[in-house]
Amino acid sequence: MRFDTPATTNPIDQLRVVGKPTDRIDGPAKTTGRAPYAYERYDVAPNQAYGYVLGAGFAKGRITAMDTAAAKAAPGVVTVVTTLDMPRLERSESNIAYLFGGPEIQHYHQAVAVVVAETFEQARDAAFLIRTDYAREPGRFDLAARAATAPLVSGDSQEGSSAPAEDRTGDFDGAFAQSPVRIDQTYTTPYESHAMMEPHATIAAWNGDKLTVWTSNQMIAWGKRDLAKTLGIRPENLRLDSPYVGGGFGGKLFIRADIVLAALGAKAARRPVKLALTRPLVANNTTHRSATIQRIRIGAGRDGKITAIAHESTSGNLPDGKPETAVQQTKLLYAGANRLTAMRLAELDLPESNAMRAPGEAPGLMALEIAIDEMAEKLGLDPVEFRILNDTQVDPEHPERPFSQRHLIECLRLGADRFGWSGRNATPGRRREGKWLVGMGVAAGFRNNLLAKSGARVHLDKQGVVTVETDMTDIGTGSYTIIAQTAAEMMGVPLEKVVVRLGDSDFPASAGSGGQWGANNSTAGVYAACVKLRDAVAKSLGFNSADAVFADGQVRAGNRSAPIGQAAGEGGLSAEDQIEFGDLAKRYQQSTFAGHFVEVGVDAATGETRVRRMLAVCSAGRILNPKSARSQVIGAMTMGVGAALMEELAVDKRHGFFVNHDLAGYEVPVHADIPHQEVIFLDEVDPASSPMKAKGVGELGLCGVGAAIANAVYNATGVRVRDYPITLDKLI
Ligand code: MOS
Repeated sequence: MRFDTPATTNPIDQLRVVGKPTDRIDGPAKTTGRAPYAYERYDVAPNQAYGYVLGAGFAKGRITAMDTAAAKAAPGVVTVVTTLDMPRLERSESNIAYLFGGPEIQHYHQAVAVVVAETFEQARDAAFLIRTDYAREPGRFDLAARAATAPLVSGDSQEGSSAPAEDRTGDFDGAFAQSPVRIDQTYTTPYESHAMMEPHATIAAWNGDKLTVWTSNQMIAWGKRDLAKTLGIRPENLRLDSPYVGGGFGGKLFIRADIVLAALGAKAARRPVKLALTRPLVANNTTHRSATIQRIRIGAGRDGKITAIAHESTSGNLPDGKPETAVQQTKLLYAGANRLTAMRLAELDLPESNAMRAPGEAPGLMALEIAIDEMAEKLGLDPVEFRILNDTQVDPEHPERPFSQRHLIECLRLGADRFGWSGRNATPGRRREGKWLVGMGVAAGFRNNLLAKSGARVHLDKQGVVTVETDMTDIGTGSYTIIAQTAAEMMGVPLEKVVVRLGDSDFPASAGSGGQWGANNSTAGVYAACVKLRDAVAKSLGFNSADAVFADGQVRAGNRSAPIGQAAGEGGLSAEDQIEFGDLAKRYQQSTFAGHFVEVGVDAATGETRVRRMLAVCSAGRILNPKSARSQVIGAMTMGVGAALMEELAVDKRHGFFVNHDLAGYEVPVHADIPHQEVIFLDEVDPASSPMKAKGVGELGLCGVGAAIANAVYNATGVRVRDYPITLDKLI
């Protein structure tokens, strides 16, 4: 089905099942241990051996020799494969770092060997018996030291970031120089780790030329394409299966060393091999979000209207890498005739920087939305009113392009009202409750809505059970449930009559879980397949398809009626289709919006910050399942607390690695850190997004939260911290 004009009324609009707060259908399996993650799939392949991946203990140079004799002789060892056993494997479209092979080392903890043994402990013990000789070379590990000479680099990437290296509209320099009210500030965000609950893990099994991997991955079709290229095998000889994923946050968008080394280990061992990356390897072998250094200049008239806005960001990556597109939202969020955005990229020899939840906007808004707060203060304007004053209903760089829908003002006004914003004292440091200095902060949230082709297959049996198959993944987000809701709505059957099967590369390729596009695109693909199945059902029953009404497990046309299962016959009925998008995304700017409000208390003596209350008001088209959408937003708000106050991968600048490479050293919020959180969704639909009229919220919930916290800390204390995370040393 091709979607190139805004959606009109369709069966989803009945909202019998879609749009209702619905428990996750995979919830009972997940909470009773019957939803196994990759490493726990003991039943898929017999005689599994255990792999242990060894990472390089230096960041740059070459390995001159590896002595594996002791490892191979160790108890229980089946085989050892080292990076010297094969030439460097090809890089796929998705990888910047080379995943394995050859003597060259590009970054710390690059995989250099896999040891396969009868037990995990035997594999690990043997790995430490490998003797490696190497010639180390000096590396580049300090982003700040290299920022001044970093060249301009564009930021297009397959997970939807899109920004030219430099973009100018009007005359920024002239307009900024003439603006009566100006700020010129630099903000920094640190390296961040996805820190998902389930580490990267894979079981691999060969059957002749055919390879099956049971793994943990967000994007099955990309993974199949990329693994085929990396291993030099034909895609049709490859199957990926990833029905349950214990979190990804962008860290599992791409195949990593776990899949490659499970496959190579299994080949050498001639039996299935399972392995998981250790926590240190998750931090240093896989990807992370780059640190950024962001300079923002804003000029405004005394009337509070922005006349000039510039946002320049510098991030770091391995050679051939992309920058963090932290300027993305600044191109679209506020009006202003004279504009400049630019991205610079410093080549570094740290592990690969890549997408993490809301790549671009998450760190970009952490800077921009402090700058907006600073500007409002200089102008003597309330920060909510300053944002509203500078709203735009069109793409400011391309005024002929309207937003398909934009209700940022409504988010801010409703949020201010519900949060009690009028009770905020505009003068910092004036509200004290016992030892606590209390402050409120606001920030706008913004994240683009991306459209991507997505396919599904639906099957109806004679019991009236509808089975949906698609390679879409559920990374803890609720995909199973919204897909079931979509099929139930379309086929007029109760939710209990829908079976959803996900994550298998033998199923039709979906949009996958990335860039908050999963919900809208994957359900639109299911919608398309169900439209076909409805036609087949009507035809089978001898009904006119246009007249057929699907409800209560029945199909009715005129005065005739039949149970839907009757159409299926003994063999059942199947239909497959995909949603494809025309140029709607070019004609309309599609984005999601939020108003984030936060109240913090800062201990007047110690500088300890505690978040007290949070509210997000979201504008994101139709909300398919308010319950799972709310979970996504509160999860993202929690991640925003981490980003603002705790999270930082610390770089060892001498040896080039992330020091705090485990969950003891890399701090993320725990339950005790999370206060009262509230989420409100505006009641709206976006007909330009798809037949579902939905957009995404999984990343929107993070975008802007960090700055709202920083602004609340400023309001509480009068200390303006521009370098995240806002730890207590920066407040005293
Ligand atoms: Mo997202 S960073 O595209 O999983």
